[in-house]
Amino acid sequence: MKQARQTCTTYMEAFSYKNGSLYAEDVSLEALAGRHGTPAYVYSRAAIEAGWRAYADAFSGRDTLVCYSVKANGNLAILDLLARLGSGFDIVSGGELERVLVAGGDPGKVVFSGVGKRADEIRRALEVGIRCFNVESEAELLRINGIAGDMSARAPVSIRVNPDIDPDTHPYIATGLKENKFGVDAGQALDLYRLAGGLDNIAATGIDCHIGSQITSIGPYIDAVNKLLSLLERLEQTGITLSHIDIGGGLGISYGDEQAPDIAGFAGTVSDLVPERYGIILEPGRSIVGNAGVLLTRVEYLKSNNTRRFAVVDASMNDLLRPSLYRARHDIIPVSERGDGAAVDYDVVGPVCETGDFLGLQRRLSLAPDDLLAVLSCGAYGFSMSSNYNSRPRAVELLVDGEHEHVIRERETVEQLMAGERILGARG
Ligand code: LLP
Repeated sequence: MKQARQTCTTYMEAFSYKNGSLYAEDVSLEALAGRHGTPAYVYSRAAIEAGWRAYADAFSGRDTLVCYSVKANGNLAILDLLARLGSGFDIVSGGELERVLVAGGDPGKVVFSGVGKRADEIRRALEVGIRCFNVESEAELLRINGIAGDMSARAPVSIRVNPDIDPDTHPYIATGLKENKFGVDAGQALDLYRLAGGLDNIAATGIDCHIGSQITSIGPYIDAVNKLLSLLERLEQTGITLSHIDIGGGLGISYGDEQAPDIAGFAGTVSDLVPERYGIILEPGRSIVGNAGVLLTRVEYLKSNNTRRFAVVDASMNDLLRPSLYRARHDIIPVSERGDGAAVDYDVVGPVCETGDFLGLQRRLSLAPDDLLAVLSCGAYGFSMSSNYNSRPRAVELLVDGEHEHVIRERETVEQLMAGERILGARG
């Protein structure tokens, strides 16, 4: 009970035990597994909405656009829920843009980040009228200008500044250090704004940064905002006036032990720092959906050797890559509470043929074959990073809303995996 509570304190207790059985809102996970099979991603509508509202409410006194970062979880149903609340969207590909459009998102509230925007992606974004391109290099700025020129359009841009700040997170997800590929340094940014001023098809409207993900202390964030503000001042001295400051995403969540930053406190600090004349854009992903989802999995086998006990479950690194890729720790709890008497340490592993295929190592659990387990805090970068490795169809995604459940993505079939493949004809 305690574990489930810890993960949901930011919004509500979306996943909690009732009479010893774990529920998503008012639907039992055991019943969901019975009806839809495992592995399954299960999300709580209330938790997702509360996650978005936490930002909107905290910044309500300011001209703010909360752009949910689609990469965290791009399921159409989730984008639709957020679009209905008035969310904007942070995208990094043409594919994410199409998802936002299909889900009914407003293109005028879309910001487009990423170091490698292709010409066709830029063209499409201009065609639908996005809010802003977060430009990451001079070459990209010139490409956007050229395409906008061909379309007789004017492209709204921010320059993404790399403030060279250590966000104190896993090195793979730190993005604002000078050795990272993202953005441009402050000096280059000034040059790019000057260059942009002379380009007919560019309108520089803002400034942008994103320093990393799963940041649990707001100190680095504040340092980044201060760097952007001093750049804005220097720009104004040279006659370049911008209207918004995009401070990126990255606020961390509690996966168990960490203390997640308080969004209201964060908003208060940022609002105090940023002068009223600038609109604020935010790009949160994980902190909206991370604790709004679990991965439901069933124990296939228990096995042990002289050194270790293994619980082999039916979810694996193809479903949830984070433990393998970042050594990320996700709490794993039983769907049916048992006394802790028989609890022993298990490595909870999947069927994929890699030693790196684990969901959690050395977890104290009391288990029997066929038991159901919930891997917590899987709403962000869970399904969105899943793959078909080992020809494993991707899991079903379910959204719970009170006592109702919705299949928001069907479990893939092996036929679907092979659908685009061709064998050579007889003479091949
Ligand atoms: N904006 C930009 C430009 C980003 O690159 C990202 C995340 C975000 C916003 C959203 O950040 P969030 O609020 O979700 O932290 N796969 C990793 C996380 C990679 C994040 C990459 N960029 C993980 O599973 O931890």
